[in-house]
Amino acid sequence: MRVLGIESSCDEFAAAVVERGRRVLSNVVASQIDLHARYGGVVPEVASRAHLRAAIPVVDQALREAGGGWHGIDAVAATYGPGLAGSLLVGLNVAKSLAFGRGLPFLGVNHLEGHIYANWLEDGSGRGDPEQPALCLVVSGGHTDLIHMQDHGRYHRLGRTRDDAAGEAFDKVARLLGLGFPGGPVIERVAAGVAVPDFELPRAWLRGTDDFSFSGLKTAVLHLTRDAAPPPREQIAAAFQTSVVDVLAEKTARAARSAGVRQVLLAGGVASNSALRREITARSPVPVRFPPPRYCTDNAVMIAGCAYFHLARGERSPLSLDVQPNLKFA
Ligand code: KG4
Ligand code: ZN
Repeated sequence: MRVLGIESSCDEFAAAVVERGRRVLSNVVASQIDLHARYGGVVPEVASRAHLRAAIPVVDQALREAGGGWHGIDAVAATYGPGLAGSLLVGLNVAKSLAFGRGLPFLGVNHLEGHIYANWLEDGSGRGDPEQPALCLVVSGGHTDLIHMQDHGRYHRLGRTRDDAAGEAFDKVARLLGLGFPGGPVIERVAAGVAVPDFELPRAWLRGTDDFSFSGLKTAVLHLTRDAAPPPREQIAAAFQTSVVDVLAEKTARAARSAGVRQVLLAGGVASNSALRREITARSPVPVRFPPPRYCTDNAVMIAGCAYFHLARGERSPLSLDVQPNLKFA
């Protein structure tokens, strides 16, 4: 079964074709980073308008690169939440129209579940499917969730952030340091030049829960930057990243131990951070998997992949499905 997937929840319009939820036949992402960078963040109206212009060419390219155009496409899937309403609207309605026009089954996908399914995509290493039950750490611009995945479609959320998401903290700290947008990749790059930071920033352990908090850390960085003689920004970036990674890795390893899972799966844009991948792998009691970086940040491959597992169980969404900007997961 080949699924055409569409993702448009934020500032990327993406389309992809994936076979059996694992083999990537095409992967097209139209990024708007240049459009939003001068505002220091995503402007919803600008994103929605850019999606409208990108939609049909991106879908056409994904079909062309997969080979055979519409021939061989068995279903259409799109993200319906969570995300920006105006952004979601474009991708969801394009997907529903295409499914209707072609007489194909349609499925709406939860963006966060999509991120997790990036771990099922073949990465060329021949490693096979992840093992379940698994503990999933979903770390993106909008979410920081620890999710116990018993089986396909069976999730239980163990913890979440109480304030800023991990990616949001990277973005805000990068802004404070004048490093630009998006913050994650640039902080990782700047911090890479510092072996061990000269000082420590706070860590919110929140004992007795699997929840997270990053707003105190962000405030600590703000105070540092206002110092009469602030430390060099690569030092601040490194201390910040070390603090985020320490908390994420320690709490994930602890939760994996007490939940008795067989694997840890990383997902979401922040999962492309190599310090995070390294620390979790070092501390986890069970094997850790993470998608290649291009499948960690927003893409449509993960949406098509996730949709396959629902479609294979006979699930379909009605064409009346609407966007749900605050769609919950687990
Ligand atoms: O999953 P994603 O592409 O979009 C959302 O669903 O939010 O995640 C985007 C977030 C941004 O906050 C970005 O700064 C962060 O992921 N990010 C990173 C890295 N690459 C992207 N954070 C830390 N290190 C990275 N290398
Ligand atoms: Zn995302």
